[in-house]
Amino acid sequence: MKPCIWERLAGAKLVDGKIVLITGAAAGIGRACALMFASQGARLAIVDLQEEGLKEVCQEIQGKGDQALPIVADISRQRDIDHILGGVTDVYGGLDILINNAGGGLATDFLAITLEEWNRIINLNLTSVFLLSQRAAEIFRKRGGGVIVNLSSQAGRSVSPTAGVHYTASKAGVLGLTRHMARILAKDHIRVNAVCPGIINSERLMKRLEERGTREEIIKTVPLGRIGDVDEVAACCLFLASDLAGYVTGAALDANGGSLMI
Ligand SMILES: NC(=O)c1ccc[n+]([C@@H]2O[C@H](COP(=O)([O-])OP(=O)(O)OC[C@H]3O[C@@H](n4cnc5c(N)ncnc54)[C@H](O)[C@@H]3O)[C@@H](O)[C@H]2O)c1
Repeated sequence: MKPCIWERLAGAKLVDGKIVLITGAAAGIGRACALMFASQGARLAIVDLQEEGLKEVCQEIQGKGDQALPIVADISRQRDIDHILGGVTDVYGGLDILINNAGGGLATDFLAITLEEWNRIINLNLTSVFLLSQRAAEIFRKRGGGVIVNLSSQAGRSVSPTAGVHYTASKAGVLGLTRHMARILAKDHIRVNAVCPGIINSERLMKRLEERGTREEIIKTVPLGRIGDVDEVAACCLFLASDLAGYVTGAALDANGGSLMI
């Protein structure tokens, strides 16, 4: 008889030996994911635009005896996507888990958004997820399975309180893409899920809220009465990426302190 989950995982690390690619890992939620997945046995490839930040995260992980391969790349450029997947497979010989985390938004007023800016945000938050997932799925299929976790947002479920319509549209797109990929890739034993953070204490967002003086006002809208921690989002990603979530696919996991309950 097959051992049950707690027998298989007793004393084990949650992603032991798994090859994990995380985008946007030099800061914020991506950095927290990198540190958490490394502590749980992953062999990491971490991607970011920021070379220095990436180097620091790698050194921190390697200093604890874990593996991390830094890849400096821009996920919104198609040729960089090939460079990223090529780098991971050259070094590790495959890929098991993809965390599509890198992303961001701008707070531009609706009437002031140019087509160029619209395309830039859609490219960064949505097209990159499609391209990276497509390439990863090719590798997963040959290996008999894999997992994709996409960072959407509370904005994708509803409306962004801090960024523009292009951000909301791109993150809603990520949820549709997640569901559709989950449906068509399930037969290849590939699970695809999304995490939808609310207001989380990444440095970038905290700086923006401080500048606008809206921090306290936003906290009042959160039933748990506080801003979320990057580690709390990383923990959701780890759960979805691990065998604990073996029967979960096409889901969107909210991590928003109760700000939006649907
Ligand atoms: N922080 C929040 O409150 C919050 C809420 C909802 C959703 N999210 C989503 O979570 C993800 C991470 O957010 P965060 O707040 O940690 O962001 P962050 O800005 O703190 O970090 C993002 C990282 O991605 C990197 N990056 C940006 N563009 C890139 C590109 N083109 N190629 C490679 N790397 C790139 C940045 O250099 C940075 O290191 C994003 O997708 C974001 O939309 C965050």
